[in-house]
Amino acid sequence: MTITLAPMEGVVDVHMRDMMTRISGFDLCVTEFVRVSQVVAPREWFLKYCPELETGGKTQAGTDVHVQLMGGEAHVMADNAAFAVHELGAPGIDLNFGCPAKTVNRHMAGAALLQWPEKLFEITSAVKAALSVEVPFSAKMRLGFEDKSLALENARALVEAGAQKLTVHARTKLEGYKAPAHWEWIARIKEVVDVPVVANGEIWTPDDARMCRDISGCADIMIGRGAIARPSLAREIKGGDFAEWPEVLGWLVTYCDMMLDTKRAKWGEGRMKQWIKLLSRTYPQAKLLFDQIKRVKDPYAIHGVIMNEARDVADVA
Ligand SMILES: Cc1cc2nc3c(=O)[nH]c(=O)nc-3n(C[C@H](O)[C@H](O)[C@H](O)COP(=O)(O)O)c2cc1C
Repeated sequence: MTITLAPMEGVVDVHMRDMMTRISGFDLCVTEFVRVSQVVAPREWFLKYCPELETGGKTQAGTDVHVQLMGGEAHVMADNAAFAVHELGAPGIDLNFGCPAKTVNRHMAGAALLQWPEKLFEITSAVKAALSVEVPFSAKMRLGFEDKSLALENARALVEAGAQKLTVHARTKLEGYKAPAHWEWIARIKEVVDVPVVANGEIWTPDDARMCRDISGCADIMIGRGAIARPSLAREIKGGDFAEWPEVLGWLVTYCDMMLDTKRAKWGEGRMKQWIKLLSRTYPQAKLLFDQIKRVKDPYAIHGVIMNEARDVADVA
């Protein structure tokens, strides 16, 4: 079994990947989508989303980070993929065919492309042709745009075009992020393609992971929100321990330190609040912490509140 940390724009950045892969359980990360249009994006654009390209394309814990590209023009996607791999050393490329954002879909990228299997084929085969054979190359799809009628055809198109692995987020664009995820559809897709399929959607607990693997028939899974809400989830799925609050608080402090120590500090407020809010799904203590910081704007002040909580917890222990 492999577990991949899901790409999540505005959530799973370099620091979150660093934290999650230190905690252990994850075998692979995928960057937030790198939007490409018209030309080959400059090196800095790629480094913004994947600073790990400067350290061999791996997190500090040694986990590979694949670069996810999103766009609607085959030759542009192909040129950018080739640049990311052959010039910047990306250890793998993933293509996004699932983003539901209106602005993205209006420009015929992300989930909108699921309406045209031939377009998926064209983009994916152009990228495949631009990459050297040994580079891991995958695609991530939803079950459809408005309905699931093209799910199997889309999956076949991606694989016939050369995707070596398919991640399936088991919902349509219209279904957004609403539960349930339709894991049984992943099983149907798995029947019509001959590459590894990775099941994704609504895995919040080790039991969910078990059920998802049973129903989809997939050995491999990808986890997004569940990992942020329960940072030890991948570790638990692989037989490790659930992390109690003091351990999680330690990770939160490290994450905040990293965030404030870099030019990403401007995002600190939003990212710290976001993580603490999601942690409230698992830890009542996180809900109390969130209540203390929800109106605080200054990321350094938020950091101070988290440090106080960490000191209080250490005193009690
Ligand atoms: C805030 C947010 C940002 C996301 N950004 C991306 C992205 O950049 N690329 C992508 O392929 N999927 C993206 N996704 C979808 C996730 O990768 C994943 O497919 C989805 O959240 C379902 O998995 P989960 O139930 O484990 O969270 C995003 C999801 C969320 C909630």
